[in-house]
Amino acid sequence: MPTLRLPGLIDPHVHLREPGGEYKEDFESGTKAALAGGITLVLVMPNTRPPLIDSDSLALAETAAAQRAVCDWGIHLGASPENTLTAADLAPRVSGLKFYLDATFGPLHLQDLRTLREHFARFPKDRPILCHAEGRTVAAVLMCAHLEGRSVHICHVSRQEEIEIIRDAKMRGIQVTCEVCAHHLYLSTDDIAHLGEGRSEVRPRLASPADQAALWRNLEFVDCFATDHAPHLLSEKDSSNPPPGFPGLETSFALMLRAVHEGRLTLEGLVERMVHAPRRIFDLPEQPDTWIEVDPDLVWQPSAHNTVSRARWTPFEGWKLRGRVIRTVLRGKEVYQQGMFQVQPGAGRNVAPIARRDFAT
Ligand code: NCD
Ligand code: ZN
Repeated sequence: MPTLRLPGLIDPHVHLREPGGEYKEDFESGTKAALAGGITLVLVMPNTRPPLIDSDSLALAETAAAQRAVCDWGIHLGASPENTLTAADLAPRVSGLKFYLDATFGPLHLQDLRTLREHFARFPKDRPILCHAEGRTVAAVLMCAHLEGRSVHICHVSRQEEIEIIRDAKMRGIQVTCEVCAHHLYLSTDDIAHLGEGRSEVRPRLASPADQAALWRNLEFVDCFATDHAPHLLSEKDSSNPPPGFPGLETSFALMLRAVHEGRLTLEGLVERMVHAPRRIFDLPEQPDTWIEVDPDLVWQPSAHNTVSRARWTPFEGWKLRGRVIRTVLRGKEVYQQGMFQVQPGAGRNVAPIARRDFAT
């Protein structure tokens, strides 16, 4: 196949660890990893230290991103019991309101149904709400959103019962969208033995082969592919208390291209889920003159030795992937080419509604 030219990819679910965890990743290392993986716009998660739940903490991340990000970016605000009255005021500065309703890394775990309902009632209906919800929590979230007449986005769906209730809700006209991660499509509990316990820790956990098959079977109900890039150092993953999470920015696109090669997904279906749907769901601006060039047949092996991310490991070590980004262009400027970056820290722009005017210029 000849070189492919595709629009810059959009990843709505990324952990870049600033502020407070820069030794794992910062805005520069993380957004460079994004460019190498063909991603030109990242929406980053609020489970940092401190967590991003108010104006001051949000300002820490905004400043860090403005100084260091090399691709475009938005920040999701974290929902907490303390910010039910203030989250709506911060909506113009963020790309969405994120709820951690099941076991996760960081301090934002929220279990109280009344707090959830209060947030759902107050946050502007035209701004995205996204939830880490597993198992029956998905049903609770769908009901809360439905009662408020608003839509909700379910993060990293990994199990059969989850994708099936989302499918059935969609078929009845309930406003719900969802994302699936490449690692849940390509890894399952069958891989834990060879990966090792610590290195296979991720939330949601790797699911059964039957769950994995259900995700593939229901791909038409999957709106987006997100990386849930969650960098932790190998020394942490191999410790007695391994934090959950996989790096994914540099491998996700190639894994989804593998699905295209395997005939499980069309290229149009890939672009829909990695560009158009995230742009629509998260109300993101067009990125003018922004594209990636891909050698669809280049065979390569992801390896700890060739990652851009500070995590310096990958659960896909040694896999043979076919198809790789060879060039990334952001606003008309070549920013990445075959392992080399030519971009100034801070070149990325904020996609938040409050910054839209700057975005266009
Ligand atoms: C995430 C992290 O490390 O921040 N880990 C993960 O396993 N996905 C937290 C999360 O997304 O729940
Ligand atoms: Zn996450």
